[in-house]
Amino acid sequence: MQDFEKLGVFYLGRKYDLTSKSMLDDLILYDSKDLVTHAVCVGMTGSGKTGLCICLLEEAALDGVPSIVIDPKGDITNLLLTFPELRQEDFAPWINAEDAAKKGLSADEYAAKQADAWKNGLASWGEDGARIKRLRDACDFTIYTPGSNAGLPVSILKSFAAPPSEIIADEEMLQGQVNTTVTSLLGLIGIEGDPIRSREHILMSTILSETWRKGSGLDLAGLIQQIQSPPLQRIGVLELESFYPSKERFALAMQLNNLLAAPGFKLWMEGEPLDVRSFLYGPNGKPRVSIFSIAHLSDAERMFFVSLLLNHVVGWMRTQSGTTSLRAILYIDEVFGYLPPVANPPSKLPLLTLMKQARAFGVGVTLVTQNPVDLDYKSLSNTGTWFIGRLQTDRDKLRILDALEGVAAGTGTKFDRGAMDQIIAGLGNRVFLMHNVNDNAPVVFTTRWAMSYLRGPLTRDQIKALMDPMKSTRRPTRPVEASIVTPLTEKASIGTATQGSQRPVLPSQIPQYFLPAGQQNAPLVYRPMLLGVSQVRFSDAKRKVDENKDLYFLAPITNDPMPVNWETAKRAELKMSDLASAPLDPARYSDLPSAASVPKNYSAWQKDLVDWLMRSQRIDLLHSPSLDQYSKVGESESDFRIRMQLATRELSDQNMEKLRNKYAPKYAALDERIRKAEMAVDREQDQVKRQKYQEAASIGSTLLNAFVGRKVSSSASKTASDYQRVQKEKKDVELAGENLDALQKQRKQLEEDFQAEVKMMGEKTNASTEKLETVSIMTTKANISVKLFALVWSPAT
Ligand SMILES: Nc1ncnc2c1ncn2[C@@H]1O[C@H](COP(=O)(O)OP(=O)(O)OP(=O)(O)O)[C@@H](O)[C@H]1O
Ligand SMILES: [Mg+2]
Repeated sequence: MQDFEKLGVFYLGRKYDLTSKSMLDDLILYDSKDLVTHAVCVGMTGSGKTGLCICLLEEAALDGVPSIVIDPKGDITNLLLTFPELRQEDFAPWINAEDAAKKGLSADEYAAKQADAWKNGLASWGEDGARIKRLRDACDFTIYTPGSNAGLPVSILKSFAAPPSEIIADEEMLQGQVNTTVTSLLGLIGIEGDPIRSREHILMSTILSETWRKGSGLDLAGLIQQIQSPPLQRIGVLELESFYPSKERFALAMQLNNLLAAPGFKLWMEGEPLDVRSFLYGPNGKPRVSIFSIAHLSDAERMFFVSLLLNHVVGWMRTQSGTTSLRAILYIDEVFGYLPPVANPPSKLPLLTLMKQARAFGVGVTLVTQNPVDLDYKSLSNTGTWFIGRLQTDRDKLRILDALEGVAAGTGTKFDRGAMDQIIAGLGNRVFLMHNVNDNAPVVFTTRWAMSYLRGPLTRDQIKALMDPMKSTRRPTRPVEASIVTPLTEKASIGTATQGSQRPVLPSQIPQYFLPAGQQNAPLVYRPMLLGVSQVRFSDAKRKVDENKDLYFLAPITNDPMPVNWETAKRAELKMSDLASAPLDPARYSDLPSAASVPKNYSAWQKDLVDWLMRSQRIDLLHSPSLDQYSKVGESESDFRIRMQLATRELSDQNMEKLRNKYAPKYAALDERIRKAEMAVDREQDQVKRQKYQEAASIGSTLLNAFVGRKVSSSASKTASDYQRVQKEKKDVELAGENLDALQKQRKQLEEDFQAEVKMMGEKTNASTEKLETVSIMTTKANISVKLFALVWSPAT
């Protein structure tokens, strides 16, 4: 493992010198948290955008950051082609036969060549099979094919499920989601519904928002039925019948019904539900990269699916906690058509919402396009990172320069249009200009070799071959329920029913209640049982637990020497209002054990109950030893692991910031002194020294360089005394001409210190696989109060 991998930075490539057309030593290490302000990647076809972004997704996956990938061309499916052993036979099934034929090679020869190309390519970037293996282990990679069963199908049937309450509570968000859903659905049946003018749109939106507001969902069949007989009389001020007569509504219903009945559409109903959480994390909380390959769909179907998916991402996002670290990535490999400057397709609103709001939730959106002219730049003006590749036309270049100028104006950074123009004109394949608002200056770099085998779009059969083994193992992934340990919940059903007699007469000190009876076929028979209703408090300051639980336990009463044994009690799902003070009539009663008519027994049994509760009741929490954090009450293991993954990343981001704040100012000051000293010595000699220095560039220096070329956060900004010190140093240099060698030694030392410090950092915990401990929180006698203790008559079942 290279040292930088501990730091949560993404290794994207190396600096590139456009003048000499050569690669420099400096690594491009992209700070993962910069991605929360989103990235845009533009460049002509073949410029290497997908290669770059696959590297970005690989780095994210290595670091345990999950991604949702929308893959309109099918190139990102290549993320599944990773071969730690890099053997010819690993490549053979995936090579492009046409390419082999073009080169006049047999399939095997070509596969061998590709395997070599990848092995050597990776080696030249300091990567190897071990890194590929780590990538494969870090995340689960899946290809979904909506509307097809080549990959994993996605069911949209559940997609009209009500959005989370956070969205329903926000009228604007709710209307946005309703609009997108209806527009894309109408698009699917060939109706271009204007949200304000089209009757179809208005009717369907009204139905959907009314249903969602109630918290219910609606599937396509339900929608069709409601279009025919809507649960409303008026639309606006008009009677429904005059607004949209039933005959015409029927025609719309038929159109939707035809869609539903179309043979191909069945596939839209199968598979996993659109559940963003399960696209991002497996059942045990392991991060996932979910690739939605949509190349096989028609334009209308793509729009429909992409809009729905984006809406769900927005909905999921709004239920997350805030963070400044990167929680997840949403990547679109060709955004053309989804975020156009003038038109308003259904995908646009959710995308705009994401661009505006996702940052607060740590969701980084990355958009790629060949067509810089077809993007809505207004919505991209806050985008933090721009990757500009080779562009085809001057018009594209002008558009991008305008966009970058806008970004610079927005962030108050200076922008040299002329210089930028020149740089962009000089870019070649796989060479990108990265304009990151967090960096001091834009950099030109060439992308590292992708670990995945970039063979281009996979065929249907290839996708099938990759995904078939997974189909049988994938189950819907819902979190396992809370971990509160009590005996099984069950309606009381114990006691021997020797039915017959009258209801026994008991001393008045013994309270009696009757439990509700369900559907009864046979005559009702009541059995006596003991009910203890208690409130139990679990309190533990260290684990931040303070939880009150209301517990209802029913115990049988017997004629045994020990008539009541709480060990055999069952927890009942009851509430106080379920307890009736009179029986239902007619009813029979089973015999009452004699101990039950002695009032003083009840206080003894109550004491037993308290003792038993104290021994038996507990709350189990999970503990992460590496982070020393506990799960919350009721939090599932997968939720806890997901939370810990983010916590790990937040911690590593903080550590990195500390490291940067410590070294960047020192480094900058030293650099300045070196510059001055160089100016002081003879020019020729200077060049010799420079060269000497460059030769000596160690991994420490490339690492430190990659690390410090950015704006340092305000906490590290120079203090007055720093400033004075620098001024004084400058003077010293001017006066004496410092010894360049000595200064360079100092810098080397600084680099070594830095590297040693990085080395010292432990490897990051993998919260998705870390062994967790279980910690039980018990209660105390003082924390148990019995609210009700009574004899109850429970209907026999
Ligand atoms: N990082 C990389 N590692 C290895 N090969 C690469 C890399 N980037 C690009 N390539 C090679 O260059 C080819 C073209 O690059 P890529 O597919 O990334 O272009 P693109 O800009 O996405 O083009 P398009 O707009 O047509 O999708 C790839 O098929 C691959 O062979
Ligand atoms: Mg591409």
